[in-house]
Amino acid sequence: MDIRNHDLKEDIREYWSKRSRTFDLAFGHRIPPGSELDAWAAAVRDAIGAAPQKVLELACGTGEVTKVLLSLGHEVTALDFSEAMLDVARAKHAGNERVRFILADAERTMEPHETYDAVICRHLVWTLTEPEQALADWFRVLKPGGRLLVFDGDWAKLTPVGKLASLAVRVLERFIGQDPHYDGAMSERHADIMKRLPFGDGLTVERLVPLVEEAGFKDIRLPTRGAIVKAQRRKAELRNRLRTLFYRRFILVASRPDPLRTGAFADKTVQ
Ligand SMILES: C[S@@+](CC[C@H](N)C(=O)[O-])C[C@H]1O[C@@H](n2cnc3c(N)ncnc32)[C@H](O)[C@@H]1O
Repeated sequence: MDIRNHDLKEDIREYWSKRSRTFDLAFGHRIPPGSELDAWAAAVRDAIGAAPQKVLELACGTGEVTKVLLSLGHEVTALDFSEAMLDVARAKHAGNERVRFILADAERTMEPHETYDAVICRHLVWTLTEPEQALADWFRVLKPGGRLLVFDGDWAKLTPVGKLASLAVRVLERFIGQDPHYDGAMSERHADIMKRLPFGDGLTVERLVPLVEEAGFKDIRLPTRGAIVKAQRRKAELRNRLRTLFYRRFILVASRPDPLRTGAFADKTVQ
């Protein structure tokens, strides 16, 4: 594996490896079957189409998004640079022949050119050390006409309503105690990593869209996350419902242009 920014990447990898066993216990990571899985599946279907495709999932972590992709019938290559995370994902999907897990750097995948119909990641872009390099690589491995689908958010700043929600959670936790698994649980390490990242002061669509365009992608869309949030809130306890208000999150979809299909036909049909 070619790992540039070695020290920073080692710290990021170590941070996630330490969280691998309890990651699914932190609200917002696990995707329970039922309405939440359906909402995530619908978001993926809307972005890349319903037909089974060859998908590269970047930074698969414990394999929760992998679960969504497999539920839709896709053939998945799921990569992560944390062996500990991959162990959890492999165990979760043991015996499923439609998924291949690989230890690799998402910024330099080393996958062959023009191989995938879709490249998908959740909660990776904010932690990239070289976003331009990563986007160029994802463009390279996509087939012409292929789709990039990013689920992410600005984890550096609470939204105005998020500030109130965070205050309410702090008050609530005086009575019910702290949640040992929530993302703040290793907050010092997290803060130390954040300040060294290109998006350490916040990943917003306003910053990401120009980079995606510069990498050559077209037809950039920002679909709503409404159905996912609604499904997450439906069964969540009060503290977790409040947490859904903390940060500004987004979905970004973009296409690698297909030179053989121009003008009105440039966009692949989404079924
Ligand atoms: C917040 S977790 C998200 C996991 C998963 N995508 C999800 O949404 O459940 C971040 C994951 O990104 C992985 N990661 C971070 N930077 C990476 C890189 N450059 N290459 C591969 N994996 C990376 C970490 O090991 C970790 O599993």
